[in-house]
Formats: sequence, C-alpha cells, structure tokens
Amino acid sequence: MPSAQSISLTRIVPWSQSLLAEVLATGDRAVDLTAGTGRDTLFLWQQVAPSGSVAAFDVQKAALERTRLLLQAEGAPVFLHTDKDTGAFAEPGVHLIHDSHARWPQYDIGSPRAVIANLGYLPGGERSLITQADSTLKALGLALDHLQEQGRLAVVGYPGHDGGQEEVEAVGSVLSGLDPEKWQVLHLQAVNRPQAPLLWVAEKKTA
Ligand SMILES: C[S@@+](CC[C@H](N)C(=O)[O-])C[C@H]1O[C@@H](n2cnc3c(N)ncnc32)[C@H](O)[C@@H]1O
Repeated sequence: MPSAQSISLTRIVPWSQSLLAEVLATGDRAVDLTAGTGRDTLFLWQQVAPSGSVAAFDVQKAALERTRLLLQAEGAPVFLHTDKDTGAFAEPGVHLIHDSHARWPQYDIGSPRAVIANLGYLPGGERSLITQADSTLKALGLALDHLQEQGRLAVVGYPGHDGGQEEVEAVGSVLSGLDPEKWQVLHLQAVNRPQAPLLWVAEKKTA
C-alpha cells in the first residue's frame, strides 16, 4: 500500500499500480491494454521480471516506440508483434502489440495475473486519438474472461476530455454489474473533484 508520506491521496495511477503490485510476482504474466508512454508497462515488467512477461497493446506506433525505448533503457527484453506475428508470448520479456486491445483473441497471451487499462489519450500526443467506449468495453470483457483466479484488472478513466464522461459511465456500469459471488470490485474517486480521474479494480474470486 502507498504510504501517506509518499503518495498524494488523489493521485489515481499510483493507487492502480499499488493495488496490482499486491497480486504480482516474478514469473507472472500481465497485460497493459494501453501502452501509451510505457510507464504502466514498465511498472508491470518490474513486478514480473526477469522470468515473467508483459503484453502491451497500442494502436499508435509513436506510443509503442516510446514504450520500447523506455523498457529497453531499463534492460527489458522487448519483442514487437503485429497481426502478422501473433505468437511466442511465453518468451520472458515485454511483448509490444501494434493493434487494438479489442483484438486480444488474435494473440496467444494466455491468462494474466493482472491487467491495466489507462484510458484516454497519449500524454503529449494527439488528443483526438482517445480510447473509445466500444473497443474499451470489448477489451475489458476479454480481460475479465482471461484473468486468473485472484487476478486483478485495474481501469483508470478520465471524465474530463471529450467523450471521457460517456466512456467512464460505460465502464462503471459494466464493472458495478459484476456478480459479487465471483468478483470483488473497488472504485476510487476524488468525490469533491468531478473531473478527476477514476479508478476501478476488479478481482476475480472464482473462474
Ligand atoms: C492514457 S494513454 C495510456 C497511458 C499509459 N498506460 C502510460 O503509462 O503512459 C492511452 C493510450 O491508449 C491508446 N489506445 C487508444 N485506443 C486503443 C485501442 N483500441 N487499443 C489499444 N490502445 C489504444 C492510445 O493510443 C494511447 O496511447
């Protein structure tokens, strides 16, 4: 758990990472549905290295390039996959997938222990290239299906940009409707800042 000294209460990304770190260990598999700048991918790799693997999707080449540079600077083995090269995910390291997260089933990723989805647009990139509710919901459904027992899915949503409110409402509606016999679902929100990012973490109790 983050300590009060080290983390601002309302900074959501450190909370998402901290809650995933609790279930990850060396050798595990993890998935980043939105690689972006690579910071979440790096976080996942640091939990599962050196014998684990991380699969990270992004539709933007620029995002995957930033992620590749960041991960290689940290010494991670990095593999690039496209829809023409969909296999070999068992290899320890970070597997970057230039494709939509909604196409997860095309890739033999296996069952991850943790999945993160940090929605919205690439920081410093094109703000019109945002995650879309339809493909986000499809990818989250796939993540929920594929997660291991006791595995966790963390979703960070941003209501403040165009289309963001609709997306977070759609995500909240799906995750709040999960069967409580099978799922524990936590929602974190800065309740006095309506535009602030939101976090959901879903843990699979039984497969
Ligand atoms: C907020 S950023 C992710 C931040 C990232 N996790 C980090 O640590 O910097 C959102 C990313 O989602 C990507 N994205 C948008 N639609 C996508 C899709 N259908 N499949 C995969 N990635 C997508 C964008 O290109 C963008 O890079």
